[in-house]
Amino acid sequence: MSKSVKDLMAMKAARTPITVVTAYDFPTARILDECGVDVILVGDSVGDTVLGYKSIRDVTMADMLHHTAAAARGSKNAFVIGDMPYRSYSTPARALANARKLIACGAVAVKMEGGVKLVPVIRTLRKHRIAVCGHLGYLPQSAAKPGAVGKTLPEAKRLVEDALAIEEAGAFMTVIELIPARLARALTRLLRIPTIGIGAGPHCDGQVQVFHDMAGLSPVVYRHVKVFAHGKETLAAGAAKYAKEVREKKFPTERNAPSMDEEVAAELERWVSGLERSTPVT
Ligand code: KIV
Repeated sequence: MSKSVKDLMAMKAARTPITVVTAYDFPTARILDECGVDVILVGDSVGDTVLGYKSIRDVTMADMLHHTAAAARGSKNAFVIGDMPYRSYSTPARALANARKLIACGAVAVKMEGGVKLVPVIRTLRKHRIAVCGHLGYLPQSAAKPGAVGKTLPEAKRLVEDALAIEEAGAFMTVIELIPARLARALTRLLRIPTIGIGAGPHCDGQVQVFHDMAGLSPVVYRHVKVFAHGKETLAAGAAKYAKEVREKKFPTERNAPSMDEEVAAELERWVSGLERSTPVT
């Protein structure tokens, strides 16, 4: 049975760290699910990690539905969150229609970026029993450029107010991205809902990493990332070995094809060699 909002709340209460990793497809979701990751986030980071888009704003609702459905099919136990792409929640009505589509594709909850301004949207979704995960701090969809948020007192206070507002509106959890560790600690103590940090230090209720970053598949390693597996080297070595064996005619062997009864094969070969061709095959 897959994890629930209640389970995630209980993990906060028990101070058990919540593990969150992004996945955008069936095999990755299955790997994460089988190794016990609590939450799979089908993030709009699919835009740069998988689809090769220049901007996260190019990610469409159709992209998110396609990838959410694939990841959900690979997940049995993890809690699956579908990310709402840029402009897909600009009004409560639009947010509700799009969130319903993500849920129909297998997401258990949806995630969206923003604070106080998002309150009417979150209230509408909650009224229709859709679970909402917030996203505060650095907001990739709307920020002018990447960078830390909440380093000054006014900015930090605004972030706390945003967090309280989305919690009050009904968000069950929130991502906090690129904020100072002391601010993340204060938020984690203050909020009743779990905080999931990325570049927010060790004091959050859980942590999220982009799969391609932690698996060593991203071209750049940012400060908030730790590379836990050297995926690029492993996959490149495998692909090079495959190409070499094909060129050297070492792979495949006859054992990699279906077998045929010896008598049938001999009869077939006799028959083929008797066939007349008007143009000889070289
Ligand atoms: O889209 C994403 O992967 C995210 C995480 C960075 C939290 O929003």
